[in-house]
Amino acid sequence: MKKLINAVLLVVAVLTARVVHAQITDTEKYDEPYRLQTHFSPRAHWINDPNGMVYFNHTYHLFYQYFPGGNSWGPMHWGHATSKDLIHWHELPIALYPDSLGYIFSGSAVVDADNTSGFGKDGKKPLVAIFTHHDPKGEQAGKDNFQNQSLAYSLDEGYTWTKYNGNPVLKNSGIRDFRDPKVCWFAPASKWVMTLATKDKVTFYSSPNLKDWTRESEFGEKLGAHGGVWECPDMFKLTIGGRAYWVLTVNINPGGPNGGSATQYFIGQFNGTTFTPLDNKTRWVDYGPDEYAGVTWSNTGSRVLFLGWMSNWAYAGQVPTDKWRNAMTAPRQLSLNSVNGELLLCSNLVHEYDHIKQKEVTFGSKVLTGQKVKGLPHQYLLKLKANTAHSFSVTFSNSNDNQLVIGYNKAMNRFYIDRSKSGKIDFNPEFGKLCFAPRFSKAKISAIEILFDTSSIEIFADKGLSTMTSVYFPEKPLDQLQISKQKGGISQVKIVPLKSIWQKLAIK
Ligand code: FRU
Repeated sequence: MKKLINAVLLVVAVLTARVVHAQITDTEKYDEPYRLQTHFSPRAHWINDPNGMVYFNHTYHLFYQYFPGGNSWGPMHWGHATSKDLIHWHELPIALYPDSLGYIFSGSAVVDADNTSGFGKDGKKPLVAIFTHHDPKGEQAGKDNFQNQSLAYSLDEGYTWTKYNGNPVLKNSGIRDFRDPKVCWFAPASKWVMTLATKDKVTFYSSPNLKDWTRESEFGEKLGAHGGVWECPDMFKLTIGGRAYWVLTVNINPGGPNGGSATQYFIGQFNGTTFTPLDNKTRWVDYGPDEYAGVTWSNTGSRVLFLGWMSNWAYAGQVPTDKWRNAMTAPRQLSLNSVNGELLLCSNLVHEYDHIKQKEVTFGSKVLTGQKVKGLPHQYLLKLKANTAHSFSVTFSNSNDNQLVIGYNKAMNRFYIDRSKSGKIDFNPEFGKLCFAPRFSKAKISAIEILFDTSSIEIFADKGLSTMTSVYFPEKPLDQLQISKQKGGISQVKIVPLKSIWQKLAIK
């Protein structure tokens, strides 16, 4: 009887939340200071890692670490949003709530097309979420096994979820950091493979049915960066020149290239049991300070789509927004490229950004020789061409003289972002530090695409070979732009204004 009452209460809660949600999204303007206009952020409250990203029936699902009770990290839920085009998002009711096994930490979701799990019913394909149950009581009691892997499934295309009554499915034998399962289907052996962060390495498990898991191997104890704990790994296939490689990404906090959290990657081969990297160099998906916990969507075929949390654990809890805290990066398509025989991972904006592009403007010679442009839109794509025989920079500013500077330092052969004078920076001493990304391309001319938004900047240089993401918090919008004066650097400046992704939802 109690179970029945609980079930009825749950249904009422879900339906009420949906109605309330519909009212919220239809009237919300998403126009507060710092509200990103070309990225997903929740209407209110705290957000961290993207979770359970899966594409199904023409819909991209984005779940995320969410605390609906405030603007700081708290008992974790899976928030939920969907999109038809990766650009316009609709926030939906919370998908997974904490329960007696703990908070709902990060994880992934798959389409179980062959119903290997047996969760499918009446021909409906189940979507299965695999996540970490984090038991705060066990943690407080000083236990080592308070993180375990659990399942939930959906029979209505990802909109509502039922937790499996056999949870947890993968029990912890005593590793304090044992979390963030990312599951993919390994076709050659017809089995599921789970990539799990296990303290300072990744452990691979396999399963025929998502419920019974066998340990396969581990990777990385002495490879890559180890300045912090390994979290949120992912493994996916990319092809170049007709050859397929497996790419293993691992998020690490702290120990990123510019301090705090970041995503490193390894390119190699996976045979269903072990991952073998091509070399032992440390490389990063994004060299900026604000891409973390990035993982890819499942069920997108050969297109590999990546999304990160646009923040850094060094100051995520202190960034100066009121109603919500933190957001997601722009979705990116990943690919491999070879530079002098070295394989590198490239990130580029998904082409769906075309949906919000407005008319392109090319700036003339005055701007190229250092004249300041004023009255710019608050969100746009900036396209530059520059000669790397010279250093160059672009300063984004406002009439309060807040300045965000991005550029290229020839002597160091590095791109950089300087937000030390960008407005509010004193909430954390780390925030004002200069950030660098190596330039990998050997081409003389660098083509650089920049996604500029009200409080974030993302740089994709040389077709995404060098990528940097950074947030910033000006006193008022940075609506001016100035190119460095020295001759020979930047030779082309184009701007493509972007429509707000929230426009459709706002009441005029
Ligand atoms: C990464 C992370 C994950 C964990 C989640 C908790 O940012 O620490 O390892 O599952 O956040 O919110």
